[in-house]
Amino acid sequence: MPTTGNASNSYLPTPALSGSGVRVIPFGTSQQSLPRCYCDYYRPEFFHFQYIPPVVANMIQLFCKAVIVWKEVIMRLDKYLSDMGAGTRSELKKEIRRSGAIVDGKVVKDPGCTVSPSSHVVFRGAAVEYEEFVYYMLNKPSGIISASEDDREPTVVDLIDEPKRRDLFPVGRLDRDTEGLLLITNDGALSHRLLSPKQHVDKVYFVKVSGILNESDVGLFRDGLILTDGLECLPADLKILSVSDEDYISEAEITVREGKFHQVKRMFSSIGAEVIFLKRLSMGPLVLDPELAPGEYRRLTADELASLGL
Ligand code: URA
Repeated sequence: MPTTGNASNSYLPTPALSGSGVRVIPFGTSQQSLPRCYCDYYRPEFFHFQYIPPVVANMIQLFCKAVIVWKEVIMRLDKYLSDMGAGTRSELKKEIRRSGAIVDGKVVKDPGCTVSPSSHVVFRGAAVEYEEFVYYMLNKPSGIISASEDDREPTVVDLIDEPKRRDLFPVGRLDRDTEGLLLITNDGALSHRLLSPKQHVDKVYFVKVSGILNESDVGLFRDGLILTDGLECLPADLKILSVSDEDYISEAEITVREGKFHQVKRMFSSIGAEVIFLKRLSMGPLVLDPELAPGEYRRLTADELASLGL
């Protein structure tokens, strides 16, 4: 019969929503030390049982999942409107108290009134549809930092000129002087999926370097470069596009499957070439739309969303 392991262990669970599922990570112990039938939500110190049959454990797990999902879906009216860019929570609280909103046909003056994405909300005389996740393809211009907000300078999120959602962020970072494809979203699970080192998502860059690239460099990239600080890189594909002996400049396309800090620049630096222009062309299945000038953005198309499994 399975046992609970060390009784002094604290199995206090922390809800952590990730990806499509819901997980609960126990503090103070490795989850692997629990027998499988002790679902992630089981708290021995709470139940005082030595053994919970799998069927009961599964029921507890389902119940906890339902509670967590329910708590995610149900929200306050002021949050709903703020998420949809109608204003800040404090402005909205005052306005709802003063002028009200209509929720599912009823006039509401309580900003804490609970609504869900399927509620029919009318505010300032117009229907407000709730959109949980948004996805923008940005052609990042040079000179802008990849951050959500900054006290001193504009960020890539500031380029998204839409009713302000405060939860937008860039998926990964491009250096200030790098251009090209950057996904801006509020979907943390997708971001995690695209950036996770385990996923090895292909990133393709156009690069201009000061130096003369040749076939032996292609081999070095293919075999996995070792950076000047000793860090080993995964194999990368280098395709030389042009070489100008006169200007001492080469152009190439490089595909990397990881995202180390200044990855591409450091890779070229390790073979004695300096990157003078860098532009990301694609990330996984997403390809930079050639119609987007630097600084321009658009929503992802239905096909692009499908290619990301959304
Ligand atoms: N590699 C770099 O060196 N810089 C970037 O911005 C992206 C990849």
